[in-house]
Amino acid sequence: MSNVKLAIVYYSSTGTNYKLAQAAAEGAKEIGAEVKVVRVPETAPEQAIASNPAWKAHAEATKDVPEVTHADIEWADAIIFSTPTRFGNMASQMKQFFDTTGGLWFQGKLVNKVVSAMTSASNPHGGQEATVLSLYTTMYHWGAIVAAPGYTDPITFQAGGNPYGTSATAVDSGEIPDAVLQAARHQAKRTATVAGWVKAGQSS
Ligand SMILES: Cc1cc2nc3c(=O)[nH]c(=O)nc-3n(C[C@H](O)[C@H](O)[C@H](O)COP(=O)(O)O)c2cc1C
Repeated sequence: MSNVKLAIVYYSSTGTNYKLAQAAAEGAKEIGAEVKVVRVPETAPEQAIASNPAWKAHAEATKDVPEVTHADIEWADAIIFSTPTRFGNMASQMKQFFDTTGGLWFQGKLVNKVVSAMTSASNPHGGQEATVLSLYTTMYHWGAIVAAPGYTDPITFQAGGNPYGTSATAVDSGEIPDAVLQAARHQAKRTATVAGWVKAGQSS
């Protein structure tokens, strides 16, 4: 997979999706993909961030993570998105970024990107699946190829059984079960692998 470029585009207020993104990066690197982890721009007011110590601490800790650019999206053969659940939907920060991609879409530059998505929610059934599917709705408009994990590896069952995309139950301590991190690694390997097949097919 040495010729596959994978962008991991995430939003995280308190660190859960950042950790999922890091685990996905590890998995893709294990199979030789070139990986960039980038965050979508924060749009919340400073005052809101400052009012939540965990949010403030995470924003401070990750201020050096590069913000995603359109060039990153053009560069990538494969993209994994990770966002917290907000009322069963993606975070508005992620949606705001998606809404800037109209120009790329118009130029056909999003077609055949191989994509998948991850999420977290506070409750075990708090909208994880709906959130991942909400991301995929945009991907279908892009003409991207969704490479969901399905049940392609037994780790999906151990991680809670979400075939649409790896999902974590966010807890105050910030801990994510090892099985979920392994599922994120597997998902990234699969997304990069499928991107490698698509890339090889396009150049044959
Ligand atoms: C406005 C808002 C809406 C949320 N909606 C849900 C929800 O519908 N279901 C749920 O279980 N958790 C919900 N949460 C909790 C977040 O999903 C949780 O804090 C997040 O997954 C943590 O991810 P992060 O650490 O990457 O920020 C909500 C949080 C906020 C601030």
